[in-house]
Amino acid sequence: MPLVSMRQLLDEAAKGGYGVGAFNVNDMEQIQAIMMAAKQTKSPVIVQASRGARAFAEDLYLFKLIQAAAELNPDIPIAMHQDHGNSFETCKSAIALGYTSVMMDGSLLEDGKTPSTFEQNVDVTRRVVDYAHERGVTVEGEIGVLGGIEDGHGAGGTGLEHVTDPDQAVEFAERTGVDALAIAIGTSHGAYKFSKKPDGSVLKMDLLIKIHGRLPHTHLVMHGSSSVPKDLQDVINEYGGKLKPTWGVPVEEIQLGIRNGVRKVNVDTDNRLAMTGAIRKVLWTQPEKFDPRDYMKPAREAMANVVAQRMTQFGQAGHAGDYAPIPITEIAKGYANGSLDTRPSLAAK
Ligand code: 13P
Repeated sequence: MPLVSMRQLLDEAAKGGYGVGAFNVNDMEQIQAIMMAAKQTKSPVIVQASRGARAFAEDLYLFKLIQAAAELNPDIPIAMHQDHGNSFETCKSAIALGYTSVMMDGSLLEDGKTPSTFEQNVDVTRRVVDYAHERGVTVEGEIGVLGGIEDGHGAGGTGLEHVTDPDQAVEFAERTGVDALAIAIGTSHGAYKFSKKPDGSVLKMDLLIKIHGRLPHTHLVMHGSSSVPKDLQDVINEYGGKLKPTWGVPVEEIQLGIRNGVRKVNVDTDNRLAMTGAIRKVLWTQPEKFDPRDYMKPAREAMANVVAQRMTQFGQAGHAGDYAPIPITEIAKGYANGSLDTRPSLAAK
């Protein structure tokens, strides 16, 4: 199957009342792990690459691997998404490669570190929406600023410094016409999110529910959604790692989000932990090994297990065959004739 519009994938998820995991990739084994899990659970899937991933793998290697995944898995809808685009140019280059979705993270300036103003965010996101929609490509925006740093991108902090203001979220959706909106509710990228199991003082699910009430037709995105399970931490530490005690986002909180408008759930850290644990285990217990396949194969399997588990927990499992992909050129027509316009003022009519 050709790569699918992320908008179509999220619209279908909204119809079915489920969430779709968006898993980060940097290399062939991670792409294979995601496809193994998608095949096993019959799930549509979002594969995403950060700027760091695109630089690490080189654009063409990474994109050709995604094309191979699509060719080898004709029954699985796959959307290819640019994670945290820092500028119009980054998004444009992803679209030129063939990505079917881009995130314009205008909550930060182009340096990927400094929080921007609301007007700066609206301006750059609107420009990306105009450009992308003309080409049938989906756009995710961000309002409020997420915590932590991922692949060098991020303002740092706990994620509570700039939580999303619901009025601003509505104005942002109206003025930009984004298809999906990342909101800041206290989550952050990376392994160190919370110092104990999070409660409502640090993970603001009430705010998410409020924003969904104001923007019922906008697909919400939860970034920083790794659960950082203790068993994955334990494997790393058992085999010579040095992770400090930490907590992620409990799966039941993500499921609460999914019941309240979250359609895209970003997960990277859990997969990194799973792979690292598996590699450590081989190298620690069998120090004579030196063939990369001896540790990359278990690493790939460990990641596939985590991804399959999340696909089941998010509810996307079993939905791969629900729909036929709409060609991107048809999606572009939908944007042009207004039928895919989800701005709150139009959706309310
Ligand atoms: P985690 O670090 O929680 O996996 O978040 C990943 C993410 O949000 C990618 O944009």
